[in-house]
Amino acid sequence: MTIEISTATADDAAALAACAAVTFPLACPADSRPEDIRQHIETHLSAERFAALVDLPGHTILCLREQGGIAGWSMIVLDQPTDADVLAALSIAPVVELSKFYVHADHHGRGAAAALMTATLDLAAASGMPGVWLGVNQENARALRFYEKHGFGRVGTKRFRLGDRFEDDFILQQALPTRAASAA
Ligand SMILES: CC(C)(COP(=O)(O)OP(=O)(O)OC[C@H]1O[C@@H](n2cnc3c(N)ncnc32)[C@H](O)[C@@H]1OP(=O)(O)O)[C@@H](O)C(=O)NCCC(=O)NCCS
Repeated sequence: MTIEISTATADDAAALAACAAVTFPLACPADSRPEDIRQHIETHLSAERFAALVDLPGHTILCLREQGGIAGWSMIVLDQPTDADVLAALSIAPVVELSKFYVHADHHGRGAAAALMTATLDLAAASGMPGVWLGVNQENARALRFYEKHGFGRVGTKRFRLGDRFEDDFILQQALPTRAASAA
């Protein structure tokens, strides 16, 4: 199966929302309430929201494309963290946030997520910032193992709100390759 990775445009908004609706629940703890998951998807992962995100400064979405559809997506954000727990945990600044990373279950364990991560880290490094961080639910063992395989290390914890409950996340970071300064 041929996959391609490229930056999202407004034309991708509906397909991104469809992908997000099936992949976001995979990242939620087993005891999450279905209504909280549904509400999160409707509020934060709608086609309208994606159409806005693709034009938002400092935000870049990469799409994992196969056979005309979207099988996964990632988003990096150049805004600096403001959460006190995140600021206390990170040892690198400034940092890129790996804000979203989701791959359809049909592609798990088949290298597609690795390809998307390589492209996402390349994009993060191109920002010139020396580090990248993310938050991942502490119960998401598969994602934790995946991130650690791709160079991230645990540096702290924070909380993530889903509905009226707080979930516990690990904070992960890694250094990005710095570019040699050009000769003056
Ligand atoms: C996280 C994700 C991108 C990883 O992609 P993937 O193709 O599944 O990743 P890989 O198969 O390369 O790596 C997963 C690793 O976790 C391991 N793993 C799988 N289930 C596991 C479990 N329950 N406990 C511990 N490790 C587990 C796998 O064996 C593999 O490790 P290995 O290569 O050393 O054998 C993908 O699973 C996904 O999109 N999940 C749903 C969305 C999500 O959780 N996103 C992260 C939000 S922060």
